[in-house]
Amino acid sequence: MDVLNRAEDIGEEIVLSIDGLSKRYYKTKKTTFALKDISFRVRQGEIVGLLGANGAGKTTIIKCLTGLVKYDSGEITLNSFKIPEQQKHALNDVAIVLEGNRNLYWRLTVMENIRYFLSLRKMGKPDEKSIDEMLKRVSLHNDKHTLVEKLSRGMQQKLNIAIALLCKAKLIILDEPTLGLDIIANHEIVKLLQEIKLQENSILVASHDMSLIESIVDRVVLIKNGGMLVDTDVKSLRQLFTSTAYRMCVENKHNTTLQRIIDDIKSKYGSIVIDGTNENMWQFIINIYDKSSRENAIELMSYFLANDIDIEKFERETPDFQHIVSRLLSRELES
Ligand SMILES: Nc1ncnc2c1ncn2[C@@H]1O[C@H](COP(=O)(O)OP(=O)(O)O)[C@@H](O)[C@H]1O
Ligand SMILES: [Mg+2]
Repeated sequence: MDVLNRAEDIGEEIVLSIDGLSKRYYKTKKTTFALKDISFRVRQGEIVGLLGANGAGKTTIIKCLTGLVKYDSGEITLNSFKIPEQQKHALNDVAIVLEGNRNLYWRLTVMENIRYFLSLRKMGKPDEKSIDEMLKRVSLHNDKHTLVEKLSRGMQQKLNIAIALLCKAKLIILDEPTLGLDIIANHEIVKLLQEIKLQENSILVASHDMSLIESIVDRVVLIKNGGMLVDTDVKSLRQLFTSTAYRMCVENKHNTTLQRIIDDIKSKYGSIVIDGTNENMWQFIINIYDKSSRENAIELMSYFLANDIDIEKFERETPDFQHIVSRLLSRELES
């Protein structure tokens, strides 16, 4: 199954639904509105990314939905059970890897941790063969009997994910799975999560790391200051920007009149952003929203030709996920 076909394999069954979730933290002198009216769903087999800067509210969402903190209003349904009322039943089929490195018992070995966490699941005697295969898959089979405290942070994180997979949880929740890892461990975790994509679990992964989210999720929920900016699949997010943005590069041979022409362009064509100039080239980004902006683009081309300026490139801008997210985040700042 490849990543593109995956969307077709996402079932209709809703594993997690969050509706109108709001949460305040009270401190002696200050009230923090950590979450304001958050709503989204995770369907069976879907990988949803909660993306937002530090302090956006991602961990608070995870704490609310796992019953670790109380929320003020809204509704959370996990595996058809209400949180917090039926939390014990709801969490039966969920594996949670929280932020930080306290998910494992440090004084126990790799195998002892696996056996302990599997025993909590009432899965019966762990199947040694599948444990062995999993340990090979995460390159921990030579460390079966090593104490967890002796493992690197990256190896500990791989063990967390291996345990989550061995539990065959319907939903795996990961909070900042690559936080504090070096670049190699980071790469290994991303690779491992990409492999998990090919399985049937649903995953909710919270991270501030745009490239991690981009490389593994089907759907992204963008959070800012406790509020939701966007809830969409990554493909639609790209398409939204693909159909509207074009990049034009023109030869810069009228140095002396550059400023006049730039001013002229800016006043005439509002939907154009001048993205850069250098000795040989100007670059523009043209947003084409409707018929009139399309006419602007055509008029602009005639303008260059009339001024004897060669057009070097006119192409649909390839939308870069990180660029799109940054633009969405800064757009909200303007309003
Ligand atoms: N226990 C707490 N008491 C008071 N404020 C908190 C607490 N935990 C988080 N916050 C505040 O709630 C907001 C969201 O935090 P958090 O959910 O940890 O964000 P993220 O995980 O996206 O970095 C922040 O402003 C943070 O300071
Ligand atoms: Mg967090």
